Amino acid sequence: MQPVPEGTFVLDEARAWSLLRALSRTVRARRRPLGRVGLSLDASGGLREVAPEAGWVVLDAERREVAFRGHPSFEVAELFDLYLPICLGGARACFTFAHLGQSLDGQIATASGASRYVTGPENLRHMHRLRALSDAVLVGASTVERDDPQLTTRLVPGDNALRVVVDPRLRLSPNHRVFQDGAAPTLVVCAASAARGARRLGEAEIVPIEDANGELSPRAIVGALESRGVAWVFVEGGGITVSRFLAARALDRVQVTIGSVFVGSGRAGIVLPAIDDLGQALRPKTRRFLLGDDVLFDCELRPEA
Ligand SMILES: NC(=O)c1ccc[n+]([C@@H]2O[C@H](COP(=O)([O-])OP(=O)(O)OC[C@H]3O[C@@H](n4cnc5c(N)ncnc54)[C@H](OP(=O)(O)O)[C@@H]3O)[C@@H](O)[C@H]2O)c1
Repeated sequence: MQPVPEGTFVLDEARAWSLLRALSRTVRARRRPLGRVGLSLDASGGLREVAPEAGWVVLDAERREVAFRGHPSFEVAELFDLYLPICLGGARACFTFAHLGQSLDGQIATASGASRYVTGPENLRHMHRLRALSDAVLVGASTVERDDPQLTTRLVPGDNALRVVVDPRLRLSPNHRVFQDGAAPTLVVCAASAARGARRLGEAEIVPIEDANGELSPRAIVGALESRGVAWVFVEGGGITVSRFLAARALDRVQVTIGSVFVGSGRAGIVLPAIDDLGQALRPKTRRFLLGDDVLFDCELRPEA
């Protein structure tokens, strides 16, 4: 990253994204900036904490907001608005968040599993940004079975996260790309009873955990990742996996992007146990963003402290 000469400073989108990534790496490494501090980048793209007047932005860590030097473009201001809460995480050591892209009628895919594309290219880019701000990206077995995804960060500058597949019965073929391409370290979390001593699925490492009738506790999954040094977990789908994390109250944040399409009966997004009274409904604090033609609902689920 080139130093920025005084007087010509413009925080463009590329620099803003580099700054957010550097902040995210610093916080995930448990070196969270404190107080009111200026932020910029050093020559190798690492976060520099400087006096407020020397920063590209000034972070108020307690209020969880930034002030800009000069007037930022709408795009730069929105980038910070959307991603700062993800970069800063919550009060707990491990920060877990999920995203689903769904139709107006609540479906993430057709009945046969076709999900490309319920939401538009801006949302796809958003998902790659979320991967870049995470230590681990986690999906359920059916997503790997149906989509054969790579789960790497390709649409924006950023590191690949550890890839985690929840496959309780070890039913997936080792030929899927995540298990073969070596693009990023990959774990397969399964029920201890299904592992039967197996250590690898393709190139991926098998992580057995205790199950209850085939169900793996989302908190136990997060605990197993935490014990491997993972601090930020992005649950990328599908609906069954995100629903189980949400039902177990194992998410700090959930994002639902709604595309303007009706899919008909298909694969549902979030499905939670029935309640009798709306007083029992989960009503998170929610922010809304426009991503192209889609609307993103960003829901905060846990209190920060
Ligand atoms: N629009 C989007 O945002 C989006 C994102 C991702 C995927 N998709 C689409 O969604 C579809 C797949 O989603 P889906 O809801 O059908 O399935 P999924 O969530 O991808 O996978 C569900 C399966 O993962 C395993 N699993 C996940 N959590 C578990 C837990 N806590 N304990 C035990 N097992 C667990 C189970 O495997 P077993 O079946 O072996 O028990 C479960 O049936 C695909 O069509 C994909 O294209 C859409």
